[in-house]
Amino acid sequence: MPVITTIDDLRRMHKRRAPKMFYDYAESGSWTEQTFRENTSDFDLIRLRQRVAVDMSNRTTTSQMIGQDVAMPVALAPVGLTGMQCADGEIKAAKAAEKFGVPFTLSTMSICSIEDVAEHTSTPFWFQLYVMQDEEFVDNIIARAKNAGCSALVLTLDLQILGQRHKDLKNGLTAPPKLTIPTMINLATKWRWGLGMLQTKRRSFGNIVGHAKGVGDTSSLSSWTAEQFDLQLDWAKIAKLKEKWGGKLILKGILDVEDAKKAVEIGADAIIVSNHGGRQLDGALSAIRMLPSIVAAVGDKIEVHMDSGIRSGQDVLKALALGAKGTYIGRAFIYGLGAMGEEGVTKALEVIHKELDITMALCGRRDVQTLDRDVLLVPKNFEGEWA
Ligand code: GLV
Repeated sequence: MPVITTIDDLRRMHKRRAPKMFYDYAESGSWTEQTFRENTSDFDLIRLRQRVAVDMSNRTTTSQMIGQDVAMPVALAPVGLTGMQCADGEIKAAKAAEKFGVPFTLSTMSICSIEDVAEHTSTPFWFQLYVMQDEEFVDNIIARAKNAGCSALVLTLDLQILGQRHKDLKNGLTAPPKLTIPTMINLATKWRWGLGMLQTKRRSFGNIVGHAKGVGDTSSLSSWTAEQFDLQLDWAKIAKLKEKWGGKLILKGILDVEDAKKAVEIGADAIIVSNHGGRQLDGALSAIRMLPSIVAAVGDKIEVHMDSGIRSGQDVLKALALGAKGTYIGRAFIYGLGAMGEEGVTKALEVIHKELDITMALCGRRDVQTLDRDVLLVPKNFEGEWA
């Protein structure tokens, strides 16, 4: 067993163990990948203030997200095709999150279904919804999430059309993979992954197949998003969905102050400042760069969370210090899952927790809930001047 000390160690193992098409799916941004790259490189621009001779004992990373106790304010983000990185991936990730004490968010585009995950866990998880044109399907999936006891609906607003990720098209991404010659050659080297897949029945989009009507090719993410997603989603429809759901609502994909204000107006419980990990509008600013202005505009009216670019506990600390009440990791836990299944997700959470805890101590703080801009050195023009 190699000594794993960073999220990047897990990424390298994930790359070796998972089929190329699924590793590439996770590791892609759209078009030039500028936003994907800047999501991480902008975190590096922020530095930390070293403080000394302060009591570092009795530290705590516990907090709340939407009123729910969390061992640290780091939830697992919804990630499509998680069950293709490793057999039964969503169940394994949800179990790791449950044991660690952080929220797990199941994607609409998951391989394991809502019911599958509910059956294998006992803590309520969150369900992420993509709004489709087929209202019956949407009503049905909301009812399924309610029946499964999901404690929040995470409505994604930044993916009504799929941003183009070149590698997915070149690799012919499907779930399950279509057995073309290049895919078979690649799969031949992924015996551990293949053995797991042979032992599970969960190999297609579990929330969709058998539930959605009129989808031409259910194995192709790009074709069914193009056929099914509701291009006319607007704030009036979001308000209706809020009513239908009737529980905690988190709006994901807010990157603009005006949209954040709209989220407050409709009475959402939280927003996630996010550019979908750089997978949608390439050329948008990084989420960490947009966070301070959104917090300044609505931070006292709604809970502000953020994702996109977090690869370490230090990144988590920076986001919290800039005003986020909660954060999400997507790729960081997917690397762990692709590397070592449930154990790998736990490892990713442990790595991030340790980095967060020790960084907090070295910044002279003991409680994650008291982190503020004072622990940071932020470049004067960090948010930039954009006309
Ligand atoms: C889906 O959420 C994706 O980004 O592919």
